[in-house]
Amino acid sequence: MDLINHRDSKLYWAFDLIADPTCSRCRLGPINKDLRCLVGVGPKNADWMFVGEAPGNREIQPDIRKPFSGKSGQYLDKILNNLHIDRDKVFITNSIMCHPLFNRDPEKDELAACRSFLLNQINTVKPKKILGLGGVALKALTGKSGIKNYRGKDFRINFGECEPLIVCTYHPAFIMRFPSNYPVIYTDFLHFIGAKGPIVKTDYHPINNMSQFEEMYRALQGSPEISFDL
Ligand code: URA
Repeated sequence: MDLINHRDSKLYWAFDLIADPTCSRCRLGPINKDLRCLVGVGPKNADWMFVGEAPGNREIQPDIRKPFSGKSGQYLDKILNNLHIDRDKVFITNSIMCHPLFNRDPEKDELAACRSFLLNQINTVKPKKILGLGGVALKALTGKSGIKNYRGKDFRINFGECEPLIVCTYHPAFIMRFPSNYPVIYTDFLHFIGAKGPIVKTDYHPINNMSQFEEMYRALQGSPEISFDL
């Protein structure tokens, strides 16, 4: 059993079945000490799996213990919200299960050492589709490098127990830093979920005079977030 009392064992089953809290297969295990091996969270029979890079320092903490629960996770949640995807229906994990200090990229031997944890999760869940988030996930899932070239493309990979469709896209942290790429990640998500077109509801109001402008201005002042297109 892992460090925390699991809120919902239906989502946290991999902590008991797959995680190795004593793992020292690479240098990250001993550095993470009792916070090592953060496996994925989500239903055991999920149709969809998301694979990120590695847990951040927040994700590994005893009171959190959940991939994508920091800033990248908030951003991922926004995308999921926009697409009406229920996060609790998706199994979400990472390419490696330990936190690399200072969020550095995982190294080749660390990815190799952690591969059996990733494969074990994939072969237990047997998802129909896997979405890789970022270049590290692309490498871990397909062996390919260069997310810019391979994003949005379909792969079919045999992992032994299952042969899911794999699509990779940019990492949410990259989109946070370079928001102009949001349409790209959004398009890749749409492709992944098999949506035929945009599913965001639009509600347009033309502004033709000053009083309409002032009305809009008042309404926007009450909004937590505003986005605009030039
Ligand atoms: N948190 C995760 O769990 N994975 C990432 O790749 C980034 C943040």
